[in-house]
Amino acid sequence: MNFDDRFNGKTYGDFLFRPQKGIVDTRKSISLSCKLTDSLRLELPVVSSNMDSVTEAEMAKAVALEGGIGIVHRALPIERQAEMVRFVKRSHSAVIESPHRVPRGTTIGDAKAIARRHQITALLVEESAGSGTLAGLLTNRDIPRRSELDTELVDAFMTPFDRLHVSPPGVGEDEAEQLMFENRIERLPLVDDARQIRGLITLRDLLLFRHRPFSSKDTKGRLLVGAAIGVSGNYLERAAALMEAHADVIVIDIAHAHSEVMKKGVEAVRSRSEGVALICGNVGTYEGARFLADVGVDAIKVGVGPGRGCRTRLETAAGVPQLQAIREAWCAVGGDVPIVADGGIKNDKDIFLALICGASTVMLGSALSGTDESPGHLIEDPATHQKRKIYRGMTSPQAVLQSSYDQDAGSREAELETPAEGMQIQVPYKGSVVEVLHRVRGHMQSAVSYAGETSLEAAREKILKDPMKYLIPLSAASRHESFER
Ligand code: XMP
Repeated sequence: MNFDDRFNGKTYGDFLFRPQKGIVDTRKSISLSCKLTDSLRLELPVVSSNMDSVTEAEMAKAVALEGGIGIVHRALPIERQAEMVRFVKRSHSAVIESPHRVPRGTTIGDAKAIARRHQITALLVEESAGSGTLAGLLTNRDIPRRSELDTELVDAFMTPFDRLHVSPPGVGEDEAEQLMFENRIERLPLVDDARQIRGLITLRDLLLFRHRPFSSKDTKGRLLVGAAIGVSGNYLERAAALMEAHADVIVIDIAHAHSEVMKKGVEAVRSRSEGVALICGNVGTYEGARFLADVGVDAIKVGVGPGRGCRTRLETAAGVPQLQAIREAWCAVGGDVPIVADGGIKNDKDIFLALICGASTVMLGSALSGTDESPGHLIEDPATHQKRKIYRGMTSPQAVLQSSYDQDAGSREAELETPAEGMQIQVPYKGSVVEVLHRVRGHMQSAVSYAGETSLEAAREKILKDPMKYLIPLSAASRHESFER
């Protein structure tokens, strides 16, 4: 496809969408299914940004439960980042494959500490350390609160094997649910004929997935999660730890991805793990997108300087208006490589514009910040009682300083050399990100309905060939009429 220069200089505020004849009875039936990469689908086209004020474990879990995916940021020691990935992978799954366990003889005090550390409400007890033979189940309700009993052993408080309901591995979800209802139990350990622990099913997870049909899951029913790496310092060690923690996708994220260092980084990661799904960025041009496609990435992250915490354009003059960048990327790679539009989304309508001009998904930073699930403390203004949270660019002086304290020595120097192309702001507190994502889902379904289609995929298929046919360029007056409230 040729370069489409009608998008030159254009970004989200420049257009409205021309409404088409609607064909659905209710927008609730509209599917938002989309591709993150060729092998990973999402039911909500939202990726939470790998920023230290946006995505850690809680955000990644919440976004995946709502149908998107979170990318855990990399301004952390490797082990902490990998632990966050493990937390999400373990947090909900149809079957917990390797449930936490303690051996007989463990004290109640130690069991309490383990449960607290992993934020879990039940522990399997095995006959001896590492034997894998189920001896019993210890739940929150069995654990005595009184600290005088902390030196007692779990053996005396657990439900022993001969009084437990268990199932063989491979039990169906419906059968497991019925068994749990009939016996009024909330956890069903899976054991084989030799009493070896093969997994654990919890009623909470079964019901949760039933109530959240859109959640993003891998083939084993675990939530999807991604994690970011760079291309310097100990990035290969980081990539290996994240893959070992079962991250579903690795995001190689550097400011200028149309570069030899990115190519070398992709090749090095791929040479160690051929099959890993790689989203790489950021680029903002036709040539940059073509370059990443030729390097063989699984998705291209597009956006040079549109982010709310960005100062790149101000400091370096480098940048491409975001709709132009998305369209250039789409013209360069067509539908062959999915595009993640990263940065600059202020209103939900911007998400729709990104998707119909070329993006398969959008990455959100500030739109998801200021929520319960974003990292950082609430700040309350003592005079007005207004609540706020910090949102900051990853190269803001504050983020760089924090990361230099947290990082392992290997990468500290490189981080400190990064010139500040980001800034820190305070954003209003918004409550739970779940509400934000519900709102986005509703607005995207309405947008598809205005596009006269029954699914996002169909709307994109129709519009992507020539979005200008469906877009209305705005004058200053019509922009004022549309957006000033
Ligand atoms: P939004 O607008 O969604 O943007 O908050 C999020 C994206 O901004 C990028 N980002 C930065 N860009 N300097 C930059 O030039 C920075 O310090 C910085 N930190 C984040 C990033 O792509 C993110 O997803």
